[in-house]
Amino acid sequence: EEAGKGEYDHYMKKEIHEQPTSLAQAIEGRIDPENGRIALADFGPGTFADVSSVQFVACGTSYHAALYGSLSLNQAGVHSTALLANEYSVAAPPVDDETLVVAVTQSGETADTLSALRQARANGAYTVTVTNVVGSTAAREADDALFIRAGPEIGVAATKTFSSQAVMLTLLGQRIAADRRGKPPADLESLLPDLAAMPDEIERVLESSDAASIADRYRGSRSYFFIGRGLGYPVALEGALKFKEITYEHAEGFASGELKHGPLALVTSETPVFAVFTGDEDEKTLKNAEEAQTRGAPLIAVCPDDHPAVEIADAHLEIPDTSAALAGLLANVQLQLVSYHAANFLDRPIDKPRNLAKSVTVE
Ligand code: G6P
Repeated sequence: EEAGKGEYDHYMKKEIHEQPTSLAQAIEGRIDPENGRIALADFGPGTFADVSSVQFVACGTSYHAALYGSLSLNQAGVHSTALLANEYSVAAPPVDDETLVVAVTQSGETADTLSALRQARANGAYTVTVTNVVGSTAAREADDALFIRAGPEIGVAATKTFSSQAVMLTLLGQRIAADRRGKPPADLESLLPDLAAMPDEIERVLESSDAASIADRYRGSRSYFFIGRGLGYPVALEGALKFKEITYEHAEGFASGELKHGPLALVTSETPVFAVFTGDEDEKTLKNAEEAQTRGAPLIAVCPDDHPAVEIADAHLEIPDTSAALAGLLANVQLQLVSYHAANFLDRPIDKPRNLAKSVTVE
């Protein structure tokens, strides 16, 4: 197993650095920037024209990708919700034959997700699995499967599979919106070239990131907060989950607008706030971040270089300019690196955090 790490100290770092390749594999043959089309040949000639609503079910990091996909689908005008698979059996929204239920699961073997998938199918929904593992239980049991082609992920903390899932769900969402309207959404024309450029943009982030020095600077803090709005919200949740999983330090992710409804009571000079700016009402997120900063919290802005947040932030993690639909994925790479370096300084067993398993096959 050691040999598989190549030049890297940990699988997690290797897998973070594999993202330019894994994303290129995810989109290969599935987008056509010149003709402004999404070609999900995985579904053959099938159409989503009759889909009236979409439910995503997933757990852990896959749930954050599912939330990302669900919010982007809502932004594209299609009714959708993301649900924790382990809550589905007690409070699933009703489904009918016009409901598409998408199970998002890297391994395709998570018991909670399989159980939600089976329930949705039994109730008459059309089901699709978005997974990394061909031949997995979820891929076999769903009506259709969409493979993210990320390659094996060994680190228990999911990294490259999150970005590939989020991109696949963005593509699927655009395709559903296009099928329903009979024409591609207006913003698809600018999205596709940005999508094609993602592998290079991630490479730029990996090459120039200040994540190690920022992780070092805020070492020993009491708690770490991550905030974001719109598509920045699932990225904030994922940033916090990654941080707590591998550093064992306390971290929480919030919707930026929720900070003032409670979490602000916890904010002190010992609670750095990582604010993710994705172009979804950034001016409001900036105000929320400033409120934390006024209470003494160091503010780390994750945004492009020319963003107004850079002027007030105590530290900056730069991301290249891209579509709002994709900016969060670049921010996520910066946050993955922060968690990795913070855990490394603490000498944690990064690839195998205590008490956690790569795939959880019990409910
Ligand atoms: C476990 C892993 C997480 C993962 C979750 C869902 O809890 O530790 O990293 O996100 O399962 O896994 P799945 O294979 O369904 O994506």
